[in-house]
Amino acid sequence: MKDHIHAQSVRPYPARRHQSAQPYPDGAHDAGSRHKGPPADANYGQLLRATRIRGLIISEAIGITQLGLGWPYATGIWSRQQIAGWRNVTDAVHERGGRIIAQLWQMGRVVHPDFLGGRQPVSASATAAPNHAHTYEGKKPYELARPLSVDEIAGVVQDFRQAALNAIDAGFDGIQLHASNGYLIDQFLRDSANLRDDRYGGTIENRVRFLKEATQAVANAIGAGRVGVRLSPNGETQGVRDSDPLPLFTKALETLSEIGIAHVELREPPVDGTFGVGEIDPLARYLRPAFKGPLILNSDFDATRAQAELDAGIGDAVAFGRPFIANPDFPRRVAEGLPLAQDDPQTWFTQGTEGYLDCTN
Ligand SMILES: Cc1cc2nc3c(=O)[nH]c(=O)nc-3n(C[C@H](O)[C@H](O)[C@H](O)COP(=O)(O)O)c2cc1C
Repeated sequence: MKDHIHAQSVRPYPARRHQSAQPYPDGAHDAGSRHKGPPADANYGQLLRATRIRGLIISEAIGITQLGLGWPYATGIWSRQQIAGWRNVTDAVHERGGRIIAQLWQMGRVVHPDFLGGRQPVSASATAAPNHAHTYEGKKPYELARPLSVDEIAGVVQDFRQAALNAIDAGFDGIQLHASNGYLIDQFLRDSANLRDDRYGGTIENRVRFLKEATQAVANAIGAGRVGVRLSPNGETQGVRDSDPLPLFTKALETLSEIGIAHVELREPPVDGTFGVGEIDPLARYLRPAFKGPLILNSDFDATRAQAELDAGIGDAVAFGRPFIANPDFPRRVAEGLPLAQDDPQTWFTQGTEGYLDCTN
């Protein structure tokens, strides 16, 4: 692998979300919300410091506003306290010679009203996600979202812009817009969740418009060279899917290419994936020509498959998720042919260090 494992995801670290003692100080959005805090203490940084990861880290998803954040104990980046908390993390990574970019998240319809003081979540259209939300009171069925107005869409674009500026303020080396996995941008992109008949719905060009505007706004604010985007083309996630994904995602990649961003990451589980399954084989090999910059591949890769796909020119780098949970020294283990420790899914999304820092096998 040598030169090729330069995009390393440590997304498993969301399991280390910390509960802050205080509600957000700048929390106009927080009225009525039981949402807790960011990693404002040094522990989170110490946890990262304890690892030996020195590549490019793509952070856990970070909320841009309370309106877009519906995961218990998840972090945000809209208040001074949150920015200061993240500074602990970015300092720890930089001290170790690593680089870290912030994945910015607006969850749209998968925010349960419990996180919004009882208000309705927002989406492209009046739809509800299937299955259940995780809330502070356990699992609850998702509720019907209301469509964002055109003015509100402009507001969310500004929320992304401000969050990107905050991320740079917090010491991140760049950001990644979370446009995959059935969250708000994906709810606009794919036609199962976007039923609009205005300039944000219907044609492919219209459905790509929100992604384009958010990416352009963020690129204008912090420089296109610090911006990446994550997409999930090859199947349904959280009830979001597209009836004809190849032309849609070709257009999305061409659009991002024109803006000149630093990377696109494709989260595409194989049809026999072990963490989500694709409806069809990954589209990366067909999408590759549409994006001129670095293309990062993800899901169910081991070192052998990663090297084969890099050699075949399907992507420029591979992002690893689960292998890093139990193997913070994953690149070294691959390079030296050492056995890999197994992660324990029971410890995912918990608040402690169990399953993370105690894996030494
Ligand atoms: C505990 C855990 C948390 C995750 N959190 C995120 C996240 O915040 N944002 C995201 O885009 N993907 C997240 N993912 C998905 C991973 O980024 C990745 O797509 C997935 O693990 C498949 O890659 P892998 O086969 O290398 O593990 C998470 C995965 C796990 C196991």
